[in-house]
Amino acid sequence: MTERTFMMIKPDGVQRAKVGEIIRRIEAKGYRIVAMKMLTPTPELLAQHYAEHIDKPFYPDLVTYMTSGPVVAMIGEGDEIIAGWRNMMGATDPTQALPGTIRGDLARAWDTAAIMNLVHGSDSEAAAKREIALWFD
Ligand code: CMP
Repeated sequence: MTERTFMMIKPDGVQRAKVGEIIRRIEAKGYRIVAMKMLTPTPELLAQHYAEHIDKPFYPDLVTYMTSGPVVAMIGEGDEIIAGWRNMMGATDPTQALPGTIRGDLARAWDTAAIMNLVHGSDSEAAAKREIALWFD
């Protein structure tokens, strides 16, 4: 089934010049990027995006990380893209992420202050709808 999902290259991906490599992987897989923009997220936007994490002990570090520079926000489209993109990203913790995944191949295990893991992807159809509406007009 063709789906849309919200995909993001986080500030470490932009700062470490991994944008081209990550987009290359998205396109190599056959997914289409139907919208894309760069912006530095505000704390207000992050409070909505990460509403479920606001009370977690790592939240202040997460905001510092995510406001440290621009991100690339994208809407991706493709067959089963929600699960497929999550598989391509790999596990949240770069140490656990398998080789072959973006985080497994490119995220640095020692960047642990806020788990700087290069990319984000919606984890369900409902989250994809919500996040696309939040990040795009
Ligand atoms: P993601 O799963 O895309 O969304 C929540 C983010 O919070 C996650 O990526 C990491 O960047 C960060 N995160 C999740 N768990 C932790 C943790 N235990 N400590 C620090 N940061 C975390």
